[in-house]
Amino acid sequence: MSQLIIFDTTMRDGEQSPGASMTKEEKVRIGKALEKMRVDVIESGFAAASEGDFESIRAVAQAVKNSTICSLARAVDSDIDRAAEALKAAQRARIHTFIATSPIHMEHKLRMTPEQVIARAVHAVSRARNLVEDVEFSCEDAGRSELDFLCRIIEAAIDAGARTINIPDTVGYAIPEEFGQTVKQLIERIPNSDKAIFSVHCHNDLGLAVANSLAAVAHGARQVECTINGLGERAGNAALEEIVMGVQTRADLFNMTTHIDTTQIVPTSRLVSTITGFPVQPNKAIVGANAFAHESGIHQDGVLKHRETYEIMKAEDVGWGANKMVMGKHSGRAAFRAKLDELGVSFESDQDLNDAFVRFKALADKKHEIFDEDLQALVSETHSETDRYELVSLETHTKTGDIPHAHISLMVDGEELSARSSGSGAVDATFNAIEAIVNASAHLQLYSVNAITSGTDSQGEVTVRLERDGRIVNGLGSDTDIVVASAKAMISALNHLESASERAHPQTSGV
Ligand code: KIV
Ligand code: ZN
Repeated sequence: MSQLIIFDTTMRDGEQSPGASMTKEEKVRIGKALEKMRVDVIESGFAAASEGDFESIRAVAQAVKNSTICSLARAVDSDIDRAAEALKAAQRARIHTFIATSPIHMEHKLRMTPEQVIARAVHAVSRARNLVEDVEFSCEDAGRSELDFLCRIIEAAIDAGARTINIPDTVGYAIPEEFGQTVKQLIERIPNSDKAIFSVHCHNDLGLAVANSLAAVAHGARQVECTINGLGERAGNAALEEIVMGVQTRADLFNMTTHIDTTQIVPTSRLVSTITGFPVQPNKAIVGANAFAHESGIHQDGVLKHRETYEIMKAEDVGWGANKMVMGKHSGRAAFRAKLDELGVSFESDQDLNDAFVRFKALADKKHEIFDEDLQALVSETHSETDRYELVSLETHTKTGDIPHAHISLMVDGEELSARSSGSGAVDATFNAIEAIVNASAHLQLYSVNAITSGTDSQGEVTVRLERDGRIVNGLGSDTDIVVASAKAMISALNHLESASERAHPQTSGV
């Protein structure tokens, strides 16, 4: 069986989903979870985007030792140098440089001739090769590029030292058979194609990202770029869990294997969902709550008689049911710290650990069994010194027939302010009261509630997405009381809105 390389770009392309930005600490947690899952290559960001992105890549490179750590870089000297600098601590470092190759991108975005684009690609790959051994080159918008031109630029990039050649369907335009044939033709026609691994990176605009990636694998691709839960720009990228389980379940067709420890799939999916505030839809393949649930009587009967009648994978193989009760109200600080260590969570200071421990004790008083997921949610509620707003107290009143109202007190820049408001429900009244204090005039784009574990004493996890002046942020809150969770999520989003800083988008022309 040959090996399929799994390249995860949750922390780079996934982070390009509006509102999905991750802090350095969150990226380290995701990086450790991906390492535990045995992902081959982790693209942890775009170093030139901002100081924060640079520091995050550096922190992941320091924390993760068993996966290759990669930074994206446009085909621009300063981007490549910045990527190499961020990756210095990595045991295995990869620079992933790219330039657009479709006529529409070359003419309207880059304003360069095809010859100039080839020269730029060769220069970028050579420069990156002088800094690291492992260089990947991508032809952005390859899905709409001309085959002859792709052959020319890829041959030149391989000659310049690229050892992975990535064929992105940047705008999700391709159709499986066509895309598979493109990859096949490239491998057959490029004279030095045997010196590189061919990779694909598919977007999901037509819902075909996984199908296109698998068609490419069937025709010679040996690396797939994907993200946990299919997170990513616009409609997202190919979902890692679907690629891995597709190849594994249909090994009879693909004759291929991956290094992935599939039992880590569900826990990692939950972690990414908690950190980014992007819930997983119940009917999502592999990681959705209903993915292994059998509703109809006929199906249940069949599964009980013989599981394979309706199940092509085992739930436990992808990590369902692996959540164990991990802690309770008698667990001490040392056990708490050790458990978080195991989950890849570290604290910048003893004060941060103490604050999290206080929150853990408060939760354990309300909820007897604390699962890994509860701890992940608890530590995701980060508070930073620069936060403007903090929840002090919340009181709500609801009664059938009465108008719900809320009374909230917040710390705003160190001063306690209160407001009372009514609304169509307890959450609406709470949000109105918060707005009466902060006057943010932000537009609520999304409000969603999820149960973190099962049972009515489960914590509710709330995501709030706000937009103001084109800037989109997510806020997360969790609590056994969903109104309190909602208030926390709104306050967290407002804090992000205040602190969100400009980051360069990698796919703007940097040339
Ligand atoms: O979709 C795309 O083309 C990308 C590249 C930067 C690889 O994300
Ligand atoms: Zn992409």
